[in-house]
Amino acid sequence: MSFTSIPLTGSKPEQYAQLAAQARALLAGEPDRVANAANLAALVYHALPDLNWVGFYFHDGRELVVGPFQGLPACVRIPLDKGVCGAAARTRQTQRVEDVEAFPGHIACDAASRSELVVPLVKDDALIGVFDLDSPRVGRFDADDQRGLEAIAQVFVEALR
Ligand code: SME
Repeated sequence: MSFTSIPLTGSKPEQYAQLAAQARALLAGEPDRVANAANLAALVYHALPDLNWVGFYFHDGRELVVGPFQGLPACVRIPLDKGVCGAAARTRQTQRVEDVEAFPGHIACDAASRSELVVPLVKDDALIGVFDLDSPRVGRFDADDQRGLEAIAQVFVEALR
C-alpha cells in the first residue's frame, strides 16, 4: 500500500475535514493501535504547519507511557497528576494551552515547545491514552484546531476493537 497525502485546501474546517478523511482511509480495516497511532502521528505531523511533536501516550492502568510519535525523543512516563497530558487524561477534557510556560506543571520534553493541545482518548468509558501535539509557536492551536484534532482522535478511537 502506498499513501499519497493530498495537500489540504480551503478554510481550516474544510482542511480538517480533508485530513479526517485521509485518516479514515489510512486506518480503514486496521484495529492495531500501535500501527494506527504511528500512521496518524506521521500523517498529522507532515500535514499541518508549525508542529514540533505529534504523538500518543497510552494509559497502562496507572500512568501514561509514550507511544508512537514524530518529533524529538520524549518523556517515557507521565503520572496522571503531572503535565498537560496528565491533566487531559485525568479530566478527560481536551487541554488547549496557549503558552506552556504559563501552565503550572507543564513537562518540557522539547524546550522548543511553546503551545500544546492534548486530546483524551476514551473508548466505552475506559481511558486509552492521549493524543498530544506541540508547537514552537505560542497560541498555535485555536478552537478550529481543537475541533479538527478531536475528530482525528475519534477516528483513532473508532478503529480500536
Ligand atoms: N508537554 C507534555 C509532555 C509530553 S511532551 O510534550 C511530548 C506535558 O506537559 O504533559
